[in-house]
Amino acid sequence: MSNYHIKHLEEYYQVYRKSIREPENFWEEVAEEHFLWRKKWNKVLEWDFKKPEIKWFQGAQLNITENCIDRHLATRANKTAILFEPNNPNEPAEHISYKQLYKRVNQFANVLKEQGIKKGDRVCIYVPMIPELAIATLACARIGAIHSVVFAGFSSTALSTRINDADCKMVITSDGSYRGKKTIDLKGIVDEALESCSCVETVLVAKRINSDIDMKEGRDKWLQPLLDQASTSYKAEIMDAEDPLFILYTSGSTGKPKGMVHTTAGYMVYTAYTFKNAFQYTENDVYWCTADIGWITGHSYIVYGPLANGATTVLFEGVPSYPDFGRFWEIVEKHKVNQFYTAPTAIRALAKHGTELVDKYDLSSLKVLGSVGEPINEEAWHWYNDNVGKKKSPIIDTWWQTETGGMMITPIPYVTPTKPTYATLPFIGIQPCLMDENGEELKGNQVDGRLCIKFPWTSMARTIWGNHLRYKETYFSAFKNNYFTGDGALRDEVGYYRITGRVDDVIIVSGHNLGTAPIEDAINEHPAVAESAIVGFPHDIKGSALYGYVILKETGESRDQNNLRKEINQIITEHIGPIAKLDKIQFSEGLPKTRSGKIMRRILCKIASNELDNLGDVSTLLNPEVVQGIIDNRL
Ligand code: WTA
Repeated sequence: MSNYHIKHLEEYYQVYRKSIREPENFWEEVAEEHFLWRKKWNKVLEWDFKKPEIKWFQGAQLNITENCIDRHLATRANKTAILFEPNNPNEPAEHISYKQLYKRVNQFANVLKEQGIKKGDRVCIYVPMIPELAIATLACARIGAIHSVVFAGFSSTALSTRINDADCKMVITSDGSYRGKKTIDLKGIVDEALESCSCVETVLVAKRINSDIDMKEGRDKWLQPLLDQASTSYKAEIMDAEDPLFILYTSGSTGKPKGMVHTTAGYMVYTAYTFKNAFQYTENDVYWCTADIGWITGHSYIVYGPLANGATTVLFEGVPSYPDFGRFWEIVEKHKVNQFYTAPTAIRALAKHGTELVDKYDLSSLKVLGSVGEPINEEAWHWYNDNVGKKKSPIIDTWWQTETGGMMITPIPYVTPTKPTYATLPFIGIQPCLMDENGEELKGNQVDGRLCIKFPWTSMARTIWGNHLRYKETYFSAFKNNYFTGDGALRDEVGYYRITGRVDDVIIVSGHNLGTAPIEDAINEHPAVAESAIVGFPHDIKGSALYGYVILKETGESRDQNNLRKEINQIITEHIGPIAKLDKIQFSEGLPKTRSGKIMRRILCKIASNELDNLGDVSTLLNPEVVQGIIDNRL
């Protein structure tokens, strides 16, 4: 029996049982057999969810890039590691072999060192989907600097908040980026962000769009000339198992984003192991995940998981709609992609354009289809299954989170029978449970509750950067001795899980987590706004879209509502980014509140979703009279 590569259902159950009964032995065997260690561990696991404190493979030493690159050189030196597909389909794709990747990462590592970056320093990476993004990430890991990749679609305010939170010494960026027909002035956004970041000493700038940009003397440096002079060898820094590898921000229920901290050894083991099994990756496959490296999906399943398995991973710069809505399928045909991993929002957007553009291309190379980021609705599931997979490629609906580092509940293709809209069974080593509102575990099947995890897994985030208390309160306080996911789920009659959506103040729009609080904080900065509340409502492409209820200050002046709407969305774009713009903005006289003054989002949510029949009892509100006015004026 192979613990590393599961090939049939019986084996899944056997391996799963072993991973639960003897988790330490199980993970020790996986770690021992499949990775390169400078020094082995003294202890496999030490944990306490009360503190909370989780340590895996204590005492071990390694460098994750030696596992992702160096160890493949003996057998895969000329194999493509990263296959770069540019935004413009007429620009040739670039095949970066493991050997070339090794050299380029080493050169970059040398540049970081020369620019004064040391082990433990934080480096912010704000780079579009070009090879330099993956290479910069790996170069940080090679020298032991902690990378904080910020999605290059975030605004300058969002960027500066993240740079300051992690106290980054350096920012790596590019002159600009291509996105479909558009170009984006990334360096301009960085310049604006850095007006409020005194911690940053150096900005390295990659050239992508050849635009004429300002370079600040002493601070900004073009990357390429530095790389050209750097040596192609670099001795990887030896890291402890629990040394932080990266920080990645995710939205929370309160204003400030949470810098989730992932550490080295456990993250490596789990992302590699899940990648191998969840995609049934075999040696000559070409694998493509359409996410951006700025999200956890890109960290774990474009960079670390695939490279740790010596895979070929596609890195796509563009968007699904450029030059037309057939672009994904054109790329699948061109590179003979075997595993394709995308988000439900992309599937819905493509489905809207019919099947002609799918049928035009040869998709026969596809073996596995993946979905991630939000619940996949039945219609999208079938469209994906029928038209892309031609009913022969299993769909893996993978549920997981920035905090979990890797996939937690997912079918294993060709192993677990799939069921539309179900993430199905827990992955090896994962012990999910459902809780009722009183904190009691719901045993047995056909139950529905709050999704928690009982036992540590190797790639769980260890803390929130600079705020361990918030980590404890957010994840370990709601349900005693359990990690609380913030999601609701049901377990069907055979034990399959279906994720029903967030039960906290996070709304998922087009697969992006958005906290209501930061958006409300941004809106409230508008001089005319007194108060606001954001809720989600169903949207046929985005899954959920944002509905804002805004109360204006009483100034006696009349204001043009459409202008106000534009200004409010402008403020949101500046503070967070265009992904957080509101689809609907309703101006109202008041917001329904509890007697303790808490906004009753549940009622607002029902009104926004047009579910007026079951608003529930509003008579206990502090101000029940506002509800009718809100209903009458809904958009
Ligand atoms: C949601 C993305 C249903 C969920 C990897 C989770 C999903 C949040 C699924 C994490 C799925 C992710 N089915 N819901 N297959 N995958 N989610 O941190 O609400 O960007 O808590 O990580 O997305 O989003 P994040």
